[in-house]
Amino acid sequence: MARTVAELKTQLADLRIERPSAPVVFVPTMGALHDGHRALMTQASHYNGISVASIFVNPTQFGPDEDLAKYPRTWEADLQLCADEGIDVVFAPTVDQMYGDRTESTLSAGPLGTRLEGAQRPGHFDGVVTVVAKLFDMVHPNRAIFGQKDAQQVAVIRAMVRDLELPVEIEAFPTVRDSDGLAMSSRNVYLSDTEREQALAIPRALVAAYQAGSEGAQAVLKAATNELAGEPEVHVRYVELVHPDTLEAVSPTFHGHALLLIAAMVGTTRLIDNSMVTVG
Ligand code: PAJ
Repeated sequence: MARTVAELKTQLADLRIERPSAPVVFVPTMGALHDGHRALMTQASHYNGISVASIFVNPTQFGPDEDLAKYPRTWEADLQLCADEGIDVVFAPTVDQMYGDRTESTLSAGPLGTRLEGAQRPGHFDGVVTVVAKLFDMVHPNRAIFGQKDAQQVAVIRAMVRDLELPVEIEAFPTVRDSDGLAMSSRNVYLSDTEREQALAIPRALVAAYQAGSEGAQAVLKAATNELAGEPEVHVRYVELVHPDTLEAVSPTFHGHALLLIAAMVGTTRLIDNSMVTVG
């Protein structure tokens, strides 16, 4: 485990001497690890490279009224999960290591970061791209693996890597769900049993939307919206059907693969989910 950038560099240098041609495969996380994170780490191990996972609850991607202070922290279990998955280096820096005591320069995620989640969480994706760029600069991965669960995050990071010409391959891994269909998330621990039951309207809406695909874009949105309306305790923040790369809403006559994105509040917990839908 590395707590400082210096420790990280030393551990990586030692591993590179042992395995000179192995690719460095990186899984960034904020800890409170669950089986979704685990799947990303299992995927990382398939490259027979040097695997690095980071655990850092990044303050700059939380808004002033968000859950930074109460974000779940399960340190011992996280380290155990990383060990079980054969992660070579766990990088768990302090806020001071990452940001020091002053910050002049940050990255902007651009227009892609101001839509959907970004519209409702101003600055969120600027914080994400800034921390991910810094982590990439510290770890120098050949490949980094992210979850499709956070589809807009994947789009924003792909755009950053393209725009800054970073030599990192970005891989998106499919969403891992609990047996009841709810997408795994570190924030699911906030849900009471009743809320969790109510939250299942979200994966149900994705299934209904998927099944309506052949009837066109309007029908897809209607199917999702109807399903969500059946659960009044799920307070929808947005339901949008978008082009997967640009995240622009598709036209009513669209045919092809589109991304259906849902955000909703259940009690005080904000949940997001998405799935690809073949339209038309
Ligand atoms: P975190 O929410 O901890 O997620 C870490 C990675 O796990 C992300 O790539 C996320 O998309 C993925 N993930 C979460 N739940 C998943 C699920 N159910 N199935 C598959 N993958 C899942 O996302 C972040 O942290 C941060 O924004 C970070 C990228 C680390 C930057 O701070």
